[in-house]
Amino acid sequence: MVDINIKQNKIIIMKNIVVLVSGSGSNLQAFIDACGGNIPNAHISAVISNKSDAFGLQRAINAGINVHSLSAKGYDNREKYDQALATLIDLHQPDVIILAGFMRILSEDFVLRYQGKMLNIHPSLLPKYTGLHTHQRAIDAGDKEHGTSVHFVTPELDGGPVILQAKVPIFENDTAEEVASRVQAQEHVIYPMVAKWLAEERLIMQDGKAVLDGNVLGPSGLETE
Ligand code: GAR
Repeated sequence: MVDINIKQNKIIIMKNIVVLVSGSGSNLQAFIDACGGNIPNAHISAVISNKSDAFGLQRAINAGINVHSLSAKGYDNREKYDQALATLIDLHQPDVIILAGFMRILSEDFVLRYQGKMLNIHPSLLPKYTGLHTHQRAIDAGDKEHGTSVHFVTPELDGGPVILQAKVPIFENDTAEEVASRVQAQEHVIYPMVAKWLAEERLIMQDGKAVLDGNVLGPSGLETE
């Protein structure tokens, strides 16, 4: 069913967003806030977590959003879990799928099913530091600069085309927690912004590249300071 909203005599086709979380859900909160304001053409139709105690689920309940908890326990393998996850997601017919700290590796079939409409945020300046413990690894390497990347999800872990990165400084004696909080403040700004572009169909994935307003983005996406 197409959801249509009429505002100031303009017809806005509403886009459905499904958000997947595993933890605190501070990025989800940024989306909840944005969908009431900065992203007027989208609403979050469901939040799904693989962890029943994820605080992100509570944030969704507080905002009156449908929630589902789907534990991986009881599924023989990744493919079977991902099939069940896809069934849940498809109930909501999403236009955009947002991985917001969803801490599972996804099977190839699952990723290909949603390719071009699934985004992830990863706490590093990709292609640096894929995987876990990115803040500590940047500190240990003596990096003076770190950041976060929003990218399309492809079968290669943290390897899809980057759309937008935000950089933060690393200061002497910073802890991983201090760097993480600096990074997260940026995530909450750039992630809803990118999702808005996708919902507005200004952003597409074409031939393995991110394309914004008809311009093919480079390996670091559209950089911001
Ligand atoms: C975010 O910082 C996000 O970049 C990271 O998990 C955090 C989730 O925080 N994602 C990954 O590490 C994915 N590889 P949140 O639950 O408060 O939004």
